[in-house]
Amino acid sequence: MADQLDVNNAVGEVIDGVYQEVHSIDSFDEATDFELKHSPNIEIVEGANGQTVKVSIGLKGLSHPQTEEHYIEWIRLFVGENLIGVVNFSADQAPEANFEIKRDNQQVIAQALCNLHGVWESRA
Ligand SMILES: [Fe+2]
Repeated sequence: MADQLDVNNAVGEVIDGVYQEVHSIDSFDEATDFELKHSPNIEIVEGANGQTVKVSIGLKGLSHPQTEEHYIEWIRLFVGENLIGVVNFSADQAPEANFEIKRDNQQVIAQALCNLHGVWESRA
């Protein structure tokens, strides 16, 4: 798994021997329910010594299934091009993760892997 991200060219990578394109929403207003329920939701809470980034899966009130057949395998977070962490999930765990970060003006990039539908990304 990549620990560095080419933030300007994040088109895909090989995961477990399979090339995975990175999907993201181009137009929030025109996004389909399928896109909305796969996209990471990023909430950034300012603290005294940095930020807490709360990531869940699904936008506009939609959420992704979490069953043995269809589930979110992991969420990972980059600040700029640097990997901050990866949280793995089994089918009986809610796909939500908190990351403690310190950033200046860098972009926060959250990615999630659906076992059926690949890697999905949101930026904040
Ligand atoms: Fe999915």
